[in-house]
Amino acid sequence: MRLTDDEKAMLDGAEGPAVAAAMDLLVRYGEALDCEQLCDIRNVAGTMTQPSPAKAKLVAEGGWDKAFSVINLDSDDDLEIPDMRVPTCQLQQGFGSDSAGIAPYSKQFIDLQDDAESFYGRKGVNILATCTPYQVGNLPVRGEHVAWMESSAVVYANSVLGARTNCEGTASTGAASLTGKIPCWGNHLPENRYGNHLIDVRVPVRDFLDWGMLGYFAGDLVQEERPVVTGDIAIPELADLKHFGAAAASSGGVELYHIPGITPEAPTVEAAFGPRPVPEAVTYGPRERRRMYETLNSQGHSTEVDFILLGCPHASIEQVCRAAKALEGRRLNSSTQLWIMVPRALKAIADRSGYTEIIERAGGRLLADSCPAMSRSAPEGTKVFATDSAKQAHYLPAILGIEAWFGTLEDCIEAAVTGRWAGDLR
Ligand code: F3S
Repeated sequence: MRLTDDEKAMLDGAEGPAVAAAMDLLVRYGEALDCEQLCDIRNVAGTMTQPSPAKAKLVAEGGWDKAFSVINLDSDDDLEIPDMRVPTCQLQQGFGSDSAGIAPYSKQFIDLQDDAESFYGRKGVNILATCTPYQVGNLPVRGEHVAWMESSAVVYANSVLGARTNCEGTASTGAASLTGKIPCWGNHLPENRYGNHLIDVRVPVRDFLDWGMLGYFAGDLVQEERPVVTGDIAIPELADLKHFGAAAASSGGVELYHIPGITPEAPTVEAAFGPRPVPEAVTYGPRERRRMYETLNSQGHSTEVDFILLGCPHASIEQVCRAAKALEGRRLNSSTQLWIMVPRALKAIADRSGYTEIIERAGGRLLADSCPAMSRSAPEGTKVFATDSAKQAHYLPAILGIEAWFGTLEDCIEAAVTGRWAGDLR
């Protein structure tokens, strides 16, 4: 791998042992991929504060410097961690102390996370605590190289923002935050950003539910490749695109998609494929739509629902507003709980706008920082849950061993109020 002078100096220890360990990790990572060089980055979205038993043990042994060295730099040396070199944010983490008594989540982890936030905040990590950092001010520009984790955030950064990132891990984002570098391969290279599958939509895709099902279809079809989607689609909202990408990254491993005329690197269908010929289109029509709906509902059996989950990826303020309007003047069924996951910064706006009060008066909760899949935590005794998120319907049954229903926000609110699932594909 060719290193620049500043990279060689970092590797040789000119900026201290922790930066040298970070550079050593990036060189090992790059060489394993036959990568020729590193690229400069100025935005990292990673995870430092997320609690775990392994982290608790390391902190007990040697404090947060030790935990970062082992988990975020893959080093057994005793390193003193300097300030982050480039803007770095914390993605989703565990539940916080304001979820105590609502989410069954360990007090030990809540305390550990509080401690982690103090340590990393002082090192320059912005504790956004959301899987949607792009909703709360962490916005790279088009063409910018970044190092992000979290599949739903990565696909949004690449596709909607036109930034460039691979789906990084805990250690590579840790090393990137101390060096401002990441191996330049995969989605960082222009030739790897062109589409290689065309999907022709022949059924109207107009709302959040349909964007999720179309994303689920696209991911299942292309797996880790790059779909280009065209046809009978309305101009999507931010929430539609975040649902589409998260679903495509769940049924497959999509990190980049194009919607000609909508996403920044695809002004036309031809441009989306670059120098390559436009392939024959695969149709997404009423039959495929019905199949996706049935697949996403295949884990639902009992219509008695005890838990409703909205906000995966974390809800936009418009989604919170819609949920509040649907709940206004209503009351949840006594055997049903409703959680809406939201970035903490947007919860502050929901509080000021009165949405939180409406949701709580109905018996629901607006929770920040985490989600049931990330914290492996749902209301005690949950057997059947319902959601408007294709990603949660895909993952939560396996993670928590519960049944899942998938439908619209209105279907979910109705189930929260009646305790019964009555959703259907309209
Ligand atoms: Fe976010 Fe959890 Fe969904 S981290 S994308 S709300 S699975």
